[in-house]
Amino acid sequence: MEDGQKSQEEVDQWEETMFLYDSALKKMALRAQTINDEFVCRYRYDPIEHIKYRLKTADSIVRKLQQDGHEVTIENMNEKLSDIAGVRIICSFTSDIYQIAGIIEKQEDITVLHVKDYIQNPKPNGYKSYHMVVSVPIFLSDGRRDVKVEIQIRSVAMDFWASLEHKIAYKLEGDTPKMLLRELKSCADIVDVLDDKMYSLHRALLAITEKRDDVTY
Ligand code: GTP
Ligand code: MG
Repeated sequence: MEDGQKSQEEVDQWEETMFLYDSALKKMALRAQTINDEFVCRYRYDPIEHIKYRLKTADSIVRKLQQDGHEVTIENMNEKLSDIAGVRIICSFTSDIYQIAGIIEKQEDITVLHVKDYIQNPKPNGYKSYHMVVSVPIFLSDGRRDVKVEIQIRSVAMDFWASLEHKIAYKLEGDTPKMLLRELKSCADIVDVLDDKMYSLHRALLAITEKRDDVTY
């Protein structure tokens, strides 16, 4: 095959691959939004504070494959990477996180490929979040494609911590001084306390409003 023809085919294959991830990303983000909308409609309650989503850039895809010692090919991209499409669901309370995860798991067309519960088992640095890698079907004119999406579900406080930790780790290129690591771990402990206290307040509010029979949830 002519080199020019081969590289054009590769470009087409790359574009179609990224289009599939983009479609899966939008589908998953809309699913999450629908879960929240249902709760608002039925119970006048918002379990999700906000939803963020992003498609991994070509640069990051190449860097990640090379870092992990894989050849940069579309096959390896699909096989070895799980976070090309990434959705982050930020919940008010820890209990909402598990409820949302359970609802996603039960959806008929979604297959859970992998779960990492960094809430039950936080990372040594203090990172907490519930991770799922799921497969969602995308229906094209010539059939179905199953596409991987990484979903991270965490509380507002966990998200605040993770954003700062990521900024620090990124700026200091992984060479974070011990003092900052200790401070971050101490902030992660405060996040736990804050999440617990906010949840208690939420329960107390529910108990009062339920008594008054104002709220049905
Ligand atoms: P990566 O190679 O980093 O993608 O990790 P993994 O494939 O082993 O998966 P894991 O579930 O551990 O992490 C996936 C994603 O979670 C990362 O890309 C980050 O977005 C987030 N994450 C994991 N650990 C940390 C952490 O210590 N700090 C922050 N800020 N984010 C983290
Ligand atoms: Mg990853």
